[in-house]
Amino acid sequence: MNADQARQLLERALDEAREAIGSAASLEDLEAARRGFGGKRSPVSQVNESIKSLAPEDRPVVGKAVSAYNAALGDLVDARRDELQVSARDAARVRDAIDLTEGGHGRRRGHLHVVTQVQRELEDVFVGLGFQVAEGPEVETDWYNFEALNMPPAHPARSMWDTLYVRLGRPEQVMLRTHTSPVQIRVMETRKPPIYTVMPGRAYRKETLDARHSPVFHQIEGLVVDRGITFGDMAGTIEAFTRAYFGPDKTSRLRPSFFPFTEPSAEFEVTCTFCDGAGCSVCSRTGWIELGGCGMVDPNVLRAVDIDPEEYSGFAFGFGLDRMAMDRHDIDHIKTFFEDDVRVLEQF
Ligand code: DAH
Repeated sequence: MNADQARQLLERALDEAREAIGSAASLEDLEAARRGFGGKRSPVSQVNESIKSLAPEDRPVVGKAVSAYNAALGDLVDARRDELQVSARDAARVRDAIDLTEGGHGRRRGHLHVVTQVQRELEDVFVGLGFQVAEGPEVETDWYNFEALNMPPAHPARSMWDTLYVRLGRPEQVMLRTHTSPVQIRVMETRKPPIYTVMPGRAYRKETLDARHSPVFHQIEGLVVDRGITFGDMAGTIEAFTRAYFGPDKTSRLRPSFFPFTEPSAEFEVTCTFCDGAGCSVCSRTGWIELGGCGMVDPNVLRAVDIDPEEYSGFAFGFGLDRMAMDRHDIDHIKTFFEDDVRVLEQF
C-alpha cells in the first residue's frame, strides 16, 4: 500500500461510515458502526498497521490522514449519539406524560356557594347605597354578643338567643356569636360617626335542625350612626334595599317588635315573592314574608362605645341570608347548603 491508496481507502471508509452512522437507529447500532469503522478489524486499523512498511516520506502523510479519519469518525458518532438521545428523551416524555386534565380537577372551574352569592349581591346593593362592608370574629365574648348590646348579665332578654358557649376563660364568657350584631359594637369601637356599614357573616345557635332552622346560618347586619338620623331614614333605607334586591314591584313594611339593642324596634317584611302579595301557603295568606329585625340604636348601646346619644342617633337592622337563598332557588331544606354535595350546589 502506498500513501495514495491509503488515503483513498480512508476516504471511502469515511463515506461508508457516514452512511452507517446516519442510519443507526439505536445506541446499539451506533456502537456497532463505531466498532466496524474504527475498531481492530476496520479499514483504518489496516492502514495504521501498514504505516511502518511505507516509504519513510509517506509515513507522516498517512499518519495525519489516519488522525483526521479518527477525528471525523469521532465527530460523526458524537453527533449521532446526541440525536439518538434527544429522540429517546422525547419518546420517553410522550410515553410517561401525565394527563393533568384527567378526572374532576382542572376540567371545570368551581363557583361561589349559593349563600355567598346572595351575600355578595346584598353587599353590592348596600355599597350602592353608600355603605361600607365590615366583618368580625365568629367566636365572641359576652361583652360583644350581649352586654354592650344592652343585655346585662342574667338579663332575661338573653333567652331570645340559644347560645353555644365555648369552654375558654371564665364559664359562659366566650361563645359562638348568636348573631352578627356584635360586629356593630366592634365597628363603633374603631370608627367615629358617620357610620354607614353592613356586616355579613356566620352565626350559631343551639338549634335543632329542621327545614328552615340550622345551628349554623348566615346574617347581614346594618348600622347607621350619624347626626339627625330618624326612624324615617331607616324605613327609607329598608325600602330602597327591598326594591334594589327583590325588584321594583316589591315593597316593605314594618311591624312593632322588641330587641334589647334598639328602641323603638320593628320587624320588617317584604312582599311575598311567591304570590306577589296575593297570599299563598308560604306567606300564610298574608302576602308578606318576614325578613328581619330593625330599630333605632338604643342610647345605652351608643354609651357602651362612648358615642354621645345627645349628639348622634342611628338605626340598625339584621336578617338571615339562608332563607333568602332558599326562597330564591326553591330549595326545600337548609341542610342543602352545608352537605357539600357538588351535584346539588353546581346547579346554583
Ligand atoms: N340580631 C337580631 C337577631 O339575630 C336581629 C336584629 C334585630 C339585628 C334588630 C339588628 C336589629 O341590628 O336592629 O335576631
